[in-house]
Amino acid sequence: MIREIKEATDFLYKRGIEAPEVGVILGTGLGNLFVKEIKKPLIINYNSIPHFPISTVEYHKGQLIYGEVKGKKVLAMQGRFHYYEGYSLQQVTLPVRVMKLLGVQHLLISNAAGNLNPDWKKGQLMLIDDHINLLPDNPLRGENYEIFGPRFPDMSEPYALSLNKKLKQIAKAKKIKLNEGVYTAVMGPNLETRAEYRFLRRIGSDAVGMSTVPEVIVANHMGLPCCAVSVLTDDCDPDNLKPVNLKEIVKVAGKAEPKLTELYVTLINAI
Ligand code: HPA
Repeated sequence: MIREIKEATDFLYKRGIEAPEVGVILGTGLGNLFVKEIKKPLIINYNSIPHFPISTVEYHKGQLIYGEVKGKKVLAMQGRFHYYEGYSLQQVTLPVRVMKLLGVQHLLISNAAGNLNPDWKKGQLMLIDDHINLLPDNPLRGENYEIFGPRFPDMSEPYALSLNKKLKQIAKAKKIKLNEGVYTAVMGPNLETRAEYRFLRRIGSDAVGMSTVPEVIVANHMGLPCCAVSVLTDDCDPDNLKPVNLKEIVKVAGKAEPKLTELYVTLINAI
């Protein structure tokens, strides 16, 4: 694994990706507007990078974009990987390790998620304050590489409080409604049953999705401060559940994308 990570890192370094300060992972339906904010972009397709998985999901483009946002060097992933695609969690999180080795100091994550909190509505944003991992695996399973981090990484502050505090201040100043809550990661790819939504709510989840948690575990392992914002794309009320499909999820994500982009661009300026 170490060799693969180093080869991918060397390849990107040689392609001109030098000392990016901020890493960004763009989730389902959220990869367009933020990318437009990246000045002097250098675009590298995932399939040209050694050992990088490729995005198999519709609406995930599958390229790295390196450039400047508010004068800071940013490396963005337009499209991410999921466990349900068949990749191991080590593969899913390989880009996070590569980002850290390239020099990234802050990781900003986004995703589309189902809303479980009856006080909130689809289309709103949720700042992730904490998470529950219901994936049937962990990216740190197996041999631990001490050069990356400890065997038993602490998870008492998985989402950097300093970044979350700034995001809340920005949202307030810009009058963007930003809920705060617990994100639970499930395997997917099917959406959940009513009984599963009831269960997820009872165990303390405010939002549910199929990503983010593996990347956050690896970022914590490597001591890389991160934050994550979910776009709530559908209401998962077990007593009044309507069918949803990917097209609708992407449509709602697209509507909320300007707010998310504004939050992250302003955060990058403030870091
Ligand atoms: N579950 C339910 N709704 C969703 C999800 C999910 O994993 N992702 C986006 N909307």
